Amino acid sequence: MDSTQAWHHTTVLRAEAIDHLVTTPDGVYLDGTFGRGGHTRELLSRLSPKARVIAIDRDPQAVEAATSGETRIDDPRFSIHHTAFAQMRPTLAALGITHVDGLLLDLGVSSPQIDNPARGFSFRFDGPLDMRMDTTRGESAAEFLARADERHIAEVIKHHGEERFAVQIAKALVARREGGDPVRTTRQLSEIVARSVKTREPGQDPATRTFQALRIFVNAELEELEQGLSAALQLLNPEARLVVISFHSLEDRIVKTFIARESRTEVDRRAPFAPEPAHRLRPIARVKPGETEIRANPRSRSAVMRVAERTEEAA
Ligand SMILES: C[S@@+](CC[C@H](N)C(=O)[O-])C[C@H]1O[C@@H](n2cnc3c(N)ncnc32)[C@H](O)[C@@H]1O
Repeated sequence: MDSTQAWHHTTVLRAEAIDHLVTTPDGVYLDGTFGRGGHTRELLSRLSPKARVIAIDRDPQAVEAATSGETRIDDPRFSIHHTAFAQMRPTLAALGITHVDGLLLDLGVSSPQIDNPARGFSFRFDGPLDMRMDTTRGESAAEFLARADERHIAEVIKHHGEERFAVQIAKALVARREGGDPVRTTRQLSEIVARSVKTREPGQDPATRTFQALRIFVNAELEELEQGLSAALQLLNPEARLVVISFHSLEDRIVKTFIARESRTEVDRRAPFAPEPAHRLRPIARVKPGETEIRANPRSRSAVMRVAERTEEAA
């Protein structure tokens, strides 16, 4: 693979996400998952000279792509910050920003991350078993598998990968480690999983679920999403839009439940005559890529975009 391919990411629902996100062309917007800036670039093209776009990414290579070389975004309305989106409030506060007019999260990994063997995200290439989006901190997948007990490994693979053979995979991993040869590479992991998974799902590599599980765990993706959504609620101006694109059911369930919970007017059963707390979100849309997009970019196949609007009440 040449370096241009390794840097390319095809943005999913590029126009649709921005159509839903922009409510005022003069506003302040947050892209919490910059990637290679496909959504940010589209957003900047729709906004006035008075607008601001703040981007965040926890991957130092994404930040480097935004600030140097041919992919650099040279626009006075734009800035990028190396952090996790759960930290969006303090990051914006340091810029003097307490509210935004739209907030986008395009979850998961980018193609430059998956397609770079050195990042260890993919069972399609051999590389070190890393899987961290933020390579400057935290524990790699190999480090986790070298220290965790069998039960913990099985739990992670079962819950984050919905893998039926989680126990067998964890057993095999620990047996190999105890034999003095812990897994260190993506190839070693996919081989061990292939031997432990007894029934294969058609069209899917047996390692798919285990790789997904370890990636979600190593990057605390579900916790990040929960924290990011609650932070978003505090940041959105009345009528501002929240746009979230998910790529698997665990993420989408969190987004869907959050929007439903914040859209409901709940009656407190212990105080049924007390004034009802106002709902803080209004669901606007659920969008999936069309056939043309899926044909052009098969990675968009599993995407689901949910859009909600901050209500006037309780803002
Ligand atoms: C699917 S890509 C985004 C692609 C982007 N919308 C584009 O069009 O180029 C997801 C990006 O979000 C980043 N990311 C994922 N979770 C994150 C988090 N919790 N905090 C910050 N960045 C995160 C990843 O490092 C990756 O670069």
